[in-house]
Amino acid sequence: MTAEDDVAQRFEQEYGHPADGVWAAPGRVNLIGEHVDYNDGLVLPFALTARTYAAASARDDGVVRARLVQADGALEEAITALSPGSLQEWPAYVAGVLWVLREAGHRVPGMELLLDGRVPVGAGLSSSAALECSVALAANDLADLGLGAPDLAKVAQHAENDFVGMPCGLMDQMASMVCTSGHALLYDVREETAEQVTFDPASAGAVLLVIDTKVKHELGESAYADRRRTCEEAARTLGVRSLRDIEPADLEAALARLSHAAAARVRHVVGEIARVRRAVAALRAGDWAGLGQEMTASHASLRDDYEVSCAELDVAVEAALRAGAIGARMTGGGFGGSAIALVPRTAVDDVTATVQAAFAEQGFTAPDVSPAEPGSGAARVR
Ligand code: GLA
Repeated sequence: MTAEDDVAQRFEQEYGHPADGVWAAPGRVNLIGEHVDYNDGLVLPFALTARTYAAASARDDGVVRARLVQADGALEEAITALSPGSLQEWPAYVAGVLWVLREAGHRVPGMELLLDGRVPVGAGLSSSAALECSVALAANDLADLGLGAPDLAKVAQHAENDFVGMPCGLMDQMASMVCTSGHALLYDVREETAEQVTFDPASAGAVLLVIDTKVKHELGESAYADRRRTCEEAARTLGVRSLRDIEPADLEAALARLSHAAAARVRHVVGEIARVRRAVAALRAGDWAGLGQEMTASHASLRDDYEVSCAELDVAVEAALRAGAIGARMTGGGFGGSAIALVPRTAVDDVTATVQAAFAEQGFTAPDVSPAEPGSGAARVR
């Protein structure tokens, strides 16, 4: 049975009537452009084929009811009673989206939701964005709000910022809403422009592997907020709107005006935006070695200057490169989650075995290594 039929059936069992429809939104990996979305930079994610499915119906009593296949418990609240901080875990992401819509003045009816989250949780693959975007899309259709994909991505981001309390940028939600199959999405956060860039490693006899380290270090969330604050303070010190405004040619002069610690963070951000531009040029020219080089340089910068990597991610990247990867890096926020490696098809087994052996040698939990292809963005599927 397809995932959409399965979730529709579960909906009917739970609520005793058929769902009005089923909506799905994917997780993502980011090829390059890390920790630059909240600096008005450029990012290059693609959507995974793994998605979160939301079967939903409107209710006319202003109450939201939701269940998630992967977790116990339920959400049942009047939409007017929702307030930030009042809910934890998955119900906060669901309620947060409806709260943001209502705060923005939209008329949000009650809803029944049955959610099936098929994006691995805690793997740095944006399962939370997938959840938010599936609910946002369902609400948009059920209440006939007429919002477009970029607007819904912003609604989802605000839910995470203001209701859940995680100060994330816009990349994950935009990737989930706007990506298309067979492409990576070049998204310019400042200009709000999106370009679909063909991403077909198979055409070059290569595969993109996702290495889920299976760890999520506690430090992650506070470090994320801390990095973001450092960037904003540095922009103020330098008299620019955001670090996007520092041109590579002016970098050294800018760094001289900052503390040692802040300078390293700024060097990452400015360098990473330049790497995204070069990576896209390489991709368009079919220069896979060039893309790989930028990916690996991105990892070094995140490890040494931005300091958001961890032992597991570093071991994964080093082992993949040792076994013949064209390029490899951590993806997402860091402090655990997943790494990605661009690998010649002939080296996939070697890379997989070498990464697994390296993890075993360090006494780390066995990682999950699997290929990923660019899937489609959020859509109504039933
Ligand atoms: C997390 C955030 C994104 C982005 C990345 C780092 O995934 O949700 O907004 O900042 O980290 O690039």
